[in-house]
Amino acid sequence: MYPIIRNRRLRASESIRRLVRETSIGPDDFLVPLFVVEGKGIKEEIASMPNYYRLSLDQLENEVKELWKMGLCAVLLFVKVPENLKDNKGSEALNPNGLMQLAIKKVKDACPGMLVMTDVALDPYSSYGHDGIVGNGQILNDETVEVLAEMSVSHAEAGADFVAPSDMMDGRILTIREALEDEGFTNTGIMSYSAKYASSFYGPFRDALDSAPVDIKNVPKDKKTYQMDFANRFEAIRETQMDIDEGADIVMIKPGIAYLDIVREIRNEVDVPIAVYQVSGEYAMLKAAAEKGWLDHDAVMMEQLLAIKRAGANIIASYFAKDVVRLLG
Ligand code: PBG
Repeated sequence: MYPIIRNRRLRASESIRRLVRETSIGPDDFLVPLFVVEGKGIKEEIASMPNYYRLSLDQLENEVKELWKMGLCAVLLFVKVPENLKDNKGSEALNPNGLMQLAIKKVKDACPGMLVMTDVALDPYSSYGHDGIVGNGQILNDETVEVLAEMSVSHAEAGADFVAPSDMMDGRILTIREALEDEGFTNTGIMSYSAKYASSFYGPFRDALDSAPVDIKNVPKDKKTYQMDFANRFEAIRETQMDIDEGADIVMIKPGIAYLDIVREIRNEVDVPIAVYQVSGEYAMLKAAAEKGWLDHDAVMMEQLLAIKRAGANIIASYFAKDVVRLLG
């Protein structure tokens, strides 16, 4: 007895595979993270992120022009703040002429069509390396949320299209939405890091920004009191639903590849666009394995990104965006 149904008929040639392929990847899928530093003429490679760079404002201008030419249409900005400008309250985050605010203007001047999203969290500005204000050995929620709302308004004033709170404080989306409305920024969107886990995959990012929690007495050494426990699933749905109710336009799940069960679960629950952050550690792992000749860089890169799309992502924040567009030709 031979099988009547042969699934291999649909795999027999590249042409039939193309016809029946359910998921694809292209420039429209990507949000490109960019790291900005003070200075001029600076394009320094991040040690744990090969071929990824910190850019001074002039280099940022070149970079976004190149991205735009390649068909990439959205960036996510992060800044590396000099040590002497850091404090517990992240005061520098509110400086209208601070690095983030200047970076937003730089991108918009260089490339008006480029969608600009900005990281909203205190860690790059915090002398303790935390996403919120530290007091009594804790990360203070409500005091932090007030600063995040002011920070969001400041980014909107500089021209940001979307603010992207990555801090995981409770209630911040509603407070940010209200602050934006009060100041007339009704069209400024919010992409909320809704299900952000306390992950060890963020190491290279913290190297890039020099933003790791410091080792000081009475200061928590990790982010586990605000970022989610990676053992949990239901909590991710609850967090995401709450952010949508509070006014998030886009929700994000982070990290990527180890969390695709969460992505699918949330995709089945909500109808807003979902972003997934394929984080620095995921990038570093593949670069390292490829450098050793143990993995085929381009093939594994595409497989991972396809898997993220297949799980339900509409948008992928990824350090591989340029590599992908180059590969696709
Ligand atoms: C901090 C922030 C982190 C990342 C994005 N925003 C690190 C952290 O939470 O400690 C990580 C991104 C990456 O690893 O690529 N608000």
